[in-house]
Amino acid sequence: MIEFKQAAKTFRLANREVHAVKEVSLSIEQGEIFGIIGFSGAGKSTLLRLVNMLERPTSGAVCVQGVDVASLSQKELRKLRRRIGMIFQNFNLFNSRTVAGNVAYPLKLAGVPKKEINERVAELLSFVGLSEKANDYPEQLSGGQKQRVGIARAIATSPDILICDEATSALDPDTTAEILRLLKKVNKDLGLTILLITHEMNVIQTICDRVAVMENGEVIEQGSVFDTFTNPQHPTTKRFIESVQKDRPSDHLLSEWKERGGKQLYRVIFKGEVAGDPVLSRVTRKHGVDVNIVYGSVRELQGKLIGNLLVSFEGDESSVQQVIEELNIVVEIEEVSVHEG
Ligand SMILES: Nc1ncnc2c1ncn2[C@@H]1O[C@H](COP(=O)(O)OP(=O)(O)O)[C@@H](O)[C@H]1O
Ligand SMILES: [Mg+2]
Repeated sequence: MIEFKQAAKTFRLANREVHAVKEVSLSIEQGEIFGIIGFSGAGKSTLLRLVNMLERPTSGAVCVQGVDVASLSQKELRKLRRRIGMIFQNFNLFNSRTVAGNVAYPLKLAGVPKKEINERVAELLSFVGLSEKANDYPEQLSGGQKQRVGIARAIATSPDILICDEATSALDPDTTAEILRLLKKVNKDLGLTILLITHEMNVIQTICDRVAVMENGEVIEQGSVFDTFTNPQHPTTKRFIESVQKDRPSDHLLSEWKERGGKQLYRVIFKGEVAGDPVLSRVTRKHGVDVNIVYGSVRELQGKLIGNLLVSFEGDESSVQQVIEELNIVVEIEEVSVHEG
């Protein structure tokens, strides 16, 4: 649906160059929700702006439905932009227009007859749950309601793609969850491909199928959300994941454990099917070893379970070694190092 082919964007300022996006290659499939996460300044917004040619790539190409967007004429570009809806962190609504007026705007631009516009606006407002607010002005709305208007306006011309630039970053957690549910509905019921950028791992975890991590203009890691969460490769990806999943007690608690003469700790990670299997008690019982669960969580991600436990073992050394070897066959198990201090 969208393909970045070594797409790069360099801004040339008076005294220096900013390499905002450096040769990014990504392929976003039809019907998926693809998330790009990165800290502020990573180049996410610039990358999005390449898709509808708000920025022209300095090198490489961006293709939408197989067509290089840089090759389009002005007229073709206007048509392309009608197939790509966009929503923003600050909603970008027209304050002088009513809710209905905001949603009607892109339809007017597209030359839709007045009667059809009215019907379509009513349908869109009902879809986003704002029918009663049709004649209100944006300043009378909450942040979540404003973003609903933004979404209704973005999908008014029945686009194939919805691009979201930090669409929930100005919202509280409950409202964020509500907007993410609406985006999921847009994806499922209307079949839009969604490309979103965010600095919040929670957003990725909640609705994305696949994710790419950006840093300093580059994609440093990409994959399915499940694989990325369960097996992150890059330190930055690990930092993002730690922000949503507290899977390690504080260093303070761990060093206390060590000072008190606590045994070596192991992290045990169960994934998918295995999470329902009492493997830990089965293997330890077999070797006459006791297991002490020090810390842990079991979570659901993309419909699969992930267990993440910190354990120590009580038993003679060779039995404990056998337990670890046997567990290693079915789960991930690694020694946890305790930082002093
Ligand atoms: N129009 C511009 N002119 C000059 N530099 C820009 C422009 N737009 C973005 N940048 C720079 O490009 C880098 C990436 O910015 P941006 O794409 O907005 O990152 P993000 O959305 O991940 O926060 C930043 O260093 C930013 O200052
Ligand atoms: Mg940005």
